[in-house]
Amino acid sequence: MQKITVVGAGHVGATVAQYCALEELARQIVLVDIIEDLPQGKALDMWESAPVSLFDTRIIGANDYGPTEGSEIVVITSGLPRKPGMSRDDLREKNVEIAKLVTAEVVKASPDSIIIMVANPLDVMSWVAYKVSGFPKSRVMGMAGILDTARFRSFIAEKLDVSTEDCQAMVLGGHGDSMVPLPSYTSVSGIPLKQLMSEKDIDALVERTRKGGGEIVALLKTGSAYYAPGVAVAQMVESIAKDKKRILPCAAYLEGEYGIKDTFVGVPCKLGAGGIKEIIEVELTDEEREALHTSAELVKEQLALVEL
Ligand code: 2OP
Repeated sequence: MQKITVVGAGHVGATVAQYCALEELARQIVLVDIIEDLPQGKALDMWESAPVSLFDTRIIGANDYGPTEGSEIVVITSGLPRKPGMSRDDLREKNVEIAKLVTAEVVKASPDSIIIMVANPLDVMSWVAYKVSGFPKSRVMGMAGILDTARFRSFIAEKLDVSTEDCQAMVLGGHGDSMVPLPSYTSVSGIPLKQLMSEKDIDALVERTRKGGGEIVALLKTGSAYYAPGVAVAQMVESIAKDKKRILPCAAYLEGEYGIKDTFVGVPCKLGAGGIKEIIEVELTDEEREALHTSAELVKEQLALVEL
């Protein structure tokens, strides 16, 4: 891959750029922000780490979209983060305006790009990018599911005192407290979680996963998570850039899958060259299906409040 752009040089954007550079996912990474000198400073600092970290990806900073022209992937992280006491939906109005402006610039500079949305409220922002860009649904997606499953997996590993590598999990739904972790699709080295943990312990970890973003916000006080979100985005970028066809939970535009239409919501997607190659429909119990529908309805309620 030749060029990746990361819009927003805050903690999330800078972390995405760094992980993508460390993995040499493109020849060049452009970090864009409206704050003068900030993306240039962070990009230069990262580039100066290259001889020690051993990568050759060139990272540059910019305050306009000129240098981003022809990007194959654009990650949008720009927007306000949550502060303690705020829900992701509280950010909607301001972040929608930012997403509209940024998406229009992205379309002009990189009409063939794949957009990965990261700003909150995630599913709403992904929908805004989809509508404003006019891109096919395969080229607009949101990052949330990998982060939510990573949280679930890390809690399972901690609880069972086993390697995080062996913990696999699945979380569907919107990126909010209504997300739907699926213990029936969660396993440790192929062993269903239910054989290793009591219902009560599973329920506690599911609840902690749902509130995982808020737990970090409460600790950081001035913003939200960025290490786990950053590496989660890099995993999506890697699967697309290397055409790995990984099946990863992503926010995707649904047109009837899971009985849901005209909204973004987290579902398992096959990611490869060109973006989302396929949405995988897994069997759900009635209860899981209902929870997924409730989550999608909550996203739709937010979409109804957005003016494009
Ligand atoms: C999170 O879950 C910021 O929404 C993001 O941490």
